[in-house]
Amino acid sequence: MLLKDKRAVVTGAAQGIGRAIALRLAAEGARVAVLDIHEAAAKAVWADSEPGRHLGFACDIADSKAVDAVFAKISEAFGGVDILVNNAGIGRGPNDGSDQMYAGIAERSGQLARGEKPTAHPDQMIHMSDEGWARVLGVNLTGQFYCARAAVRLMVAENVVGNIVNIASTSAASGEGPLHYVTSKAAVVGFTRGLARELSTRGIRVNAVHPGATNTPIMGNLPDEMVKAMEAAIPLGRMARPDEVAAAVAFLASDQASYATGSVLTVNGGQYFA
Ligand SMILES: NC(=O)c1ccc[n+]([C@@H]2O[C@H](COP(=O)([O-])OP(=O)(O)OC[C@H]3O[C@@H](n4cnc5c(N)ncnc54)[C@H](O)[C@@H]3O)[C@@H](O)[C@H]2O)c1
Repeated sequence: MLLKDKRAVVTGAAQGIGRAIALRLAAEGARVAVLDIHEAAAKAVWADSEPGRHLGFACDIADSKAVDAVFAKISEAFGGVDILVNNAGIGRGPNDGSDQMYAGIAERSGQLARGEKPTAHPDQMIHMSDEGWARVLGVNLTGQFYCARAAVRLMVAENVVGNIVNIASTSAASGEGPLHYVTSKAAVVGFTRGLARELSTRGIRVNAVHPGATNTPIMGNLPDEMVKAMEAAIPLGRMARPDEVAAAVAFLASDQASYATGSVLTVNGGQYFA
């Protein structure tokens, strides 16, 4: 077991990649607290587990007071935190121009497929509302900051030499995807590197993972043609399974990665070499 009796927090872990990470860390011996905006689904992750060993909480990670309150509860239950996996992320916000962008992509690929001169454009920015931009940055970037701050405060107070794994995305390198999403994921890389430097004197490591296209519910938002085109462009010929991303996170969170900090581990089937 790589993580025997470590105390871990995984955000956005009621489904998808986060759920796979939570289950993998638990299988490696950690006690795991799942945070998710959906409380029942967060608790349901542990339906088949030993009662009380793992926890599930409702928390909107974009709300700093809610984050501080939930970390206080986790600290009380676990006696501290050794590992934070900042996984929660969203690809859409309110009135963010996603509908117009996806419609533009579909229309343009239809025009190209019919051999017509393409006149449609994947416009998102001209339709983007302030709230749409702020929500995606608020969850994907500021939410990671709030959770990391709460976790590091606990680690420092208790002299815990822990570590943090931030989930970014291949989009940070390729630029592909919704504009606010790409921006947030690129910022996560900078956040990871800056925090890794800052915390290095305490031995606390901070790393990131770039998943490529991974088969989770977030993909359900994308048009079918886009998913097919995405898979065709992946050298390994398919999307990742959530457990394949979880394996990379378990490695970085363990002592096996004791000399890795500020690094980005790319798990994307060879699509981009970030
Ligand atoms: N699936 C992919 O192809 C892919 C590729 C690259 C990166 N990622 C990243 O991996 C992470 C997980 O993606 P996924 O595909 O599993 O997504 P998902 O939508 O399947 O799951 C995300 C989870 O986060 C929760 N969540 C959303 N907003 C939250 C908030 N404000 N506070 C707390 N919880 C919140 C949701 O309820 C959900 O359970 C995200 O950061 C995503 O950007 C995913």
